[in-house]
Amino acid sequence: MTLDAHSLRCTECGSGIPGDAVASDFRCPNCQGLYEVVYPWSASRSAAQTPATPVSDTRFPNPSALRWLWQERRTSTLPIDQSGVWRFRDLLPIVKSENVVTLREGNTPLYDLPRCAAAAGLDWLLAKHQGMNPTGSFKDTGMTAALSVAAERGFQWVACASTGNTSAAMAAYAARAGLRSIVFIPEGKIAWGKLAQSMDYGALTIQLKTDFDGCVRILTDLVRRFPIYLLNSVNPYRLEGQKTPAFELVEQLDGQVPEHIIVPGGNLANSSALGKGFQEMHQLGLIPHLPKISIIQAEGANPLYRWFIDSNRIMKPVTADTRATAIRIGNPASWRKAANVIDDLGGWCEQVSEQEIALAKAQIGAEGVGCEPASAVTLAGIKKLVALGKVTREERAVLILTGNTLKDPQYTIDYHRNALLTDEELAAATPLQRSQHGALAKAPIVLDADTDTVLRTLEVHMRTEPVPQPV
Ligand code: F0G
Repeated sequence: MTLDAHSLRCTECGSGIPGDAVASDFRCPNCQGLYEVVYPWSASRSAAQTPATPVSDTRFPNPSALRWLWQERRTSTLPIDQSGVWRFRDLLPIVKSENVVTLREGNTPLYDLPRCAAAAGLDWLLAKHQGMNPTGSFKDTGMTAALSVAAERGFQWVACASTGNTSAAMAAYAARAGLRSIVFIPEGKIAWGKLAQSMDYGALTIQLKTDFDGCVRILTDLVRRFPIYLLNSVNPYRLEGQKTPAFELVEQLDGQVPEHIIVPGGNLANSSALGKGFQEMHQLGLIPHLPKISIIQAEGANPLYRWFIDSNRIMKPVTADTRATAIRIGNPASWRKAANVIDDLGGWCEQVSEQEIALAKAQIGAEGVGCEPASAVTLAGIKKLVALGKVTREERAVLILTGNTLKDPQYTIDYHRNALLTDEELAAATPLQRSQHGALAKAPIVLDADTDTVLRTLEVHMRTEPVPQPV
């Protein structure tokens, strides 16, 4: 990889700095804005919508050569080629190849969800399952990138504040690289699977008696005082890794671009990372047009939704509360980047209720795919976008499922035992939603270990159980 290439540009005031000159909190000293990584071939924000640039410009990687190279690497046995992030390293020259820390992230499946499509009123619906990454979430694609930078720059300690997935990914990649990691998580507000991972991978795990936003405040103070490398998504190198699922998705669709991408919104970095990926592909002539990107938030953690519907477009932090703990964030650091993606690519922001999230999660589970609650907001949200006429029946939409169903087993078990939703939440459901809940909830049955008893029970179930529609 040639490193002649990258620098950082403030997304607020536009000022540029070399990559290694950035402050430890990754904020612009002029305006406190966040940076993005830029390359000699990067467009300005206003030019990002312009059609493909002529390939004769030598600063630009050649699109046909890139497509060929990325396919070729699929057959290689080198770890860096087997990674679904570094296979695209020509478009993220941020570290030397020998410094890459990889768990062979990326290469995630694209599933069709025919029953969810029908439930949403669509002809077809796809899901790119980022929960099939090594630590079970999309965070791995960003962590391989930013942790590699930390290792190359000689940091001994890395840290993040997290609702659980970033910390799991950071702890794993730090362990691979032999770095020490510190995790700050809100006490009692993250899923067990995620807490277990950060301990398993050897992180110093600190549960703070505050929420995610409080954890971010403390950590930001700390990194200004100690040489700890900050791995929250304000770190722009994370987003370089998180843009690569856009490349992979277009490959999986044989070069076609879906009309619509639906992403959950928490701290609001992932939506902008995917937007950057698509914009770079468009700029380089790898795709003929851009998809829309819509962002879905939980009703109880909806600052971007409030900004979106506010005629004055003012961002006001909220006190966040949702059972989708991954996106329980009231003061999202990257909100302006996400807002730019909605404005530049088109798309909407929607909010969904706890009841809608639970139903959508069960519907994705019933397709044999499954995801964690925060990911299910995408299906709940697209149902609303279809109902509002923002997505049409024949449009090709892709849900980004961000986390694995095993991350939060307690949520799933509570749902199937009818112990998740309150009576008020269920009362707010439409009759159709109530009957869907009834058909999906599958509480375990406890029986005596006696064959006749088991047979009698099975007979009842075999008579009454609806047959799933064939796929
Ligand atoms: N989905 C999952 C499963 C997540 O873990 C997160 C964020 C998001 C969606 C939202 O992505 O923040 O880029 O808008 N989790 C972070 C964490 C905050 O600490 O693991 P975003």
